[in-house]
Amino acid sequence: MSIKANKNLITITTKNTSYQMKIDELGYLLHTWYGERIEDNEDMSYRISNMDRGFCGNPYETMDRSYSLDVLPQEYSTFGNGDYRADCIQVINQDGTNVVDLKYDSHKISKGKYELKGLPAFFWEKEGGESLKVNLIDKVSGIRVELLYGVLEKYDIITRSVRIVNTSDNVLKIKKALSACIDMLDGDFELVHFHGKHAMEREFERSPLAHGKLVLESKRGTSSHQQNPFVILAKKDTTEIYGECIGFALVYSGSFIIETEVDQVNQTRLVAGLHPEQFSYVLKAGDELVLPEAVFTYSNGGFEKMTHSFHDAVRNNLQRGEFVHKHRPILINNWEATYFDFDADKIFDIASKAKSLGIEMLVMDDGWFGERYDDTKGLGDWYVNEKKLGSSLKELAERINAIDMKLGIWFEPEMINEDTKLYREHPDFMIRVPNRKGTKGREQFVLDFTRKDVRDYIRDMMVKILDNANIEYIKWDMNRSLSAVYSSNLAAESMGEFHYRYVLGLYDLLGELTRKYPNIMFEGCSGGGGRYDLGMLYYHPQIWLSDDTDAIERLKIQYGSSFAYPIGSAGAHVSASPNHQTMRKTPFETRATVAMGGTFGYELDLNKVSKTEQKMVKAQVKDYLKYDELIHEGDYYRLTSPYDKSRVTAWQLLSKDKSLGLLSVVVQSVEANESNIYIYPRGLDENAYYKIVEEKRRGKVWMSGGLVLPRIKEEYESFRFEIKRV
Ligand code: GLA
Repeated sequence: MSIKANKNLITITTKNTSYQMKIDELGYLLHTWYGERIEDNEDMSYRISNMDRGFCGNPYETMDRSYSLDVLPQEYSTFGNGDYRADCIQVINQDGTNVVDLKYDSHKISKGKYELKGLPAFFWEKEGGESLKVNLIDKVSGIRVELLYGVLEKYDIITRSVRIVNTSDNVLKIKKALSACIDMLDGDFELVHFHGKHAMEREFERSPLAHGKLVLESKRGTSSHQQNPFVILAKKDTTEIYGECIGFALVYSGSFIIETEVDQVNQTRLVAGLHPEQFSYVLKAGDELVLPEAVFTYSNGGFEKMTHSFHDAVRNNLQRGEFVHKHRPILINNWEATYFDFDADKIFDIASKAKSLGIEMLVMDDGWFGERYDDTKGLGDWYVNEKKLGSSLKELAERINAIDMKLGIWFEPEMINEDTKLYREHPDFMIRVPNRKGTKGREQFVLDFTRKDVRDYIRDMMVKILDNANIEYIKWDMNRSLSAVYSSNLAAESMGEFHYRYVLGLYDLLGELTRKYPNIMFEGCSGGGGRYDLGMLYYHPQIWLSDDTDAIERLKIQYGSSFAYPIGSAGAHVSASPNHQTMRKTPFETRATVAMGGTFGYELDLNKVSKTEQKMVKAQVKDYLKYDELIHEGDYYRLTSPYDKSRVTAWQLLSKDKSLGLLSVVVQSVEANESNIYIYPRGLDENAYYKIVEEKRRGKVWMSGGLVLPRIKEEYESFRFEIKRV
């Protein structure tokens, strides 16, 4: 049993960790432990010591001046009961007051996982895990907060969510409603977070936490390139393979906030969920509000252990559909090969050359529909531009299928250009605040996906296309941030629900289409990795990692993304040299080594590369197919960091049974009179023998003695070493 209630203690236990809460004498739900596994009757509240502190208020019902919620660790912090730290919930009551004082009411432990209507969430029917619901109630306002917890024992994963119910006869306005709070008594944490920009997402940054707050957020309506909804609370001495850390992510794709705060007595609090500045929600009598899921794992074996838990849980218990564990076709995408300048013949030429070299699918990117000759018009007109293509989509698909290749196409379903039939006929479909023109992003505007009729209209156009040609893949793009929002469907007092309802609308359409077309593989994209989050990974087995295809820059992007997200879900392609984003020249083989650190493909016209390079493609495809399962199901090891001074970036994949591995090394800088570079593989069976480049040694020897990298012959050279148990 993974959840046990013992008197006033509730303890959640996973394979290696425990999470404990305690209902205290006043009825508040305290958080007493998250860390190494303990017994469920071991009351960890002994670590809390109360003290009469100035300016730390005491609840009216106690005479004890040393009891203050201002310093007590809590499961769900609120405002108005003496706690001035980051709160999870803010409500405006009907009388204008804003106190929420939540006390324990009841709890229930059940088999299986809770459901979150309309929201993506982890699932574990097969594992039969348990879940917990704790009801907290504010008797005065009638707010019931249901704290939901799920446990995936074998991967040390705990999920949380919240349902807020208005049990009163009044109308309540929820101003802030977050998904989770984690209070740690012993502070001294650092925060690892992943910032970025378009074409350079998820840069690793490790910041000390100081007294006060460090806030990470997106107000863009998407999870964004700029900040990612995943962070790690780490002890100062935690490394890749040593020390304590908690990895924390939101299963959500819209505006979010993650607040971390070190309080006056050096305790650390993390709260996270929907961004409150983009949010207010009218809760009428009897209404409920369901919040996005949060997921976290505690590791005492450094970042690596945390990553392995996340990767296993995400690919086995979050991602759905037949493509998650199936071979995904190696594809060639025409975007960087042609941009908007193509017709069906050109596409077919790219496809046939690719086919002759072993590639399995062609993806026709932006520009096949409407009057889409450039990026100023056409979005929303989802009918095939046969004039431009010189063919119907059905004919093109047949031609491509005839050479035994699959065809995929690009969509940007959430968008609209003013210069479209869609806009001329349905200007109200577009998000535009009355009497304001709004801001453009890439000349485009966003559709009001809070409206079901708008989503249905777009769905019908897409269905017509998908039902008329053999399309086996969709790249679902999203190329701007939301700015000023408005919906004719929402009453003025409910306009604060827009951002949340937009994301629900998006999930609704994604859910409908992925259910209707289980045989179509969906790839997510938002100008590359602008919506690279667990919400999207629930619908898309993979996401285009970044619009930056430069192999050397990708080392950082892939490194940062790998902390939480399985590398098999990262779309990674070999592109042309000089690279289109950076103008850097890199060896052809290095581009393949890096692209094999993800879901492999090509993004250039292979008719235009040399015969030698074409031959290399054949070999690369063969190599990738050999390691396909390893890349998607194996354990991932970050052996060195691209941010370190080391001259190389190295990573390793190892099959679960430790029999096959792939060790990849990319040289980032060269030096004269070079010194040796040692690469230390990890995770091998110590006493088994492994062959790496024709040399056979014991696992332990490889891991402690390392592999001596051969002499470097050129800048940005790369190596792929197979690790094989013999
Ligand atoms: C975005 C995507 C690219 C490409 C273009 C097409 O930027 O990330 O891969 O699809 O749009 O307009």
